[in-house]
Amino acid sequence: MDAIELLLNRGSFGKLEEPAPSNEELQIIQRAALRAPDHKGLRPWKFFVYQGNDSLKQLGELFLQAKLKSEPDLPQAKQEKALAMPFRAPMIIIACVEYQEHEKVPKIEQAISCGCAVHGMLFALQAQGFAGYWRTGDLAFNPFLKELLGLKPSDEIVGFLYAGTPKVSITKPDQVVPEDYFFKS
Ligand SMILES: Cc1cc2nc3c(=O)[nH]c(=O)nc-3n(C[C@H](O)[C@H](O)[C@H](O)COP(=O)(O)O)c2cc1C
Repeated sequence: MDAIELLLNRGSFGKLEEPAPSNEELQIIQRAALRAPDHKGLRPWKFFVYQGNDSLKQLGELFLQAKLKSEPDLPQAKQEKALAMPFRAPMIIIACVEYQEHEKVPKIEQAISCGCAVHGMLFALQAQGFAGYWRTGDLAFNPFLKELLGLKPSDEIVGFLYAGTPKVSITKPDQVVPEDYFFKS
């Protein structure tokens, strides 16, 4: 796929199904993430990959555990929703930033770097015929989920990247007019 065409036509797609990327395709997605711009080469990233029924079920249980810890009286319907959430795609990659102390690299730069990694993965998915959807929601900011993932309280979940095969063919995204956002003097 032509690089410019990919850059101009990246789009998110939430209706995803099997197949998920193979191990080889996942390698490319991972390598794309690791090419994120990274001030001082801190590599402040950590990614958790969930794929396949058992793994997605395990993630649903983590989601539920985290939600129950913050809301012990969580209604049954919401508990079931938490368990089912990961099954919206055959693969989920949780992108996290593990902040490093550096006098020249503030936290915001490290979080941006992690965001760029997610962006890279979205491109690598689409370039290989897959699609993805970057989500956050309350779980991204749930301190108990961070704990369950083994992250420090100061680290952050930058996003849940839902990945898989689009259920229907992806239409080209609307093009935003550059002149509305870029100003030449
Ligand atoms: C940090 C971040 C968090 C996001 N969280 C959500 C989310 O929780 N739910 C959602 O529907 N879209 C979320 N989005 C937006 C979608 O990923 C997507 O970018 C948006 O729907 C626009 O679609 P497009 O990427 O095809 O332009 C998030 C985007 C970013 C950058």
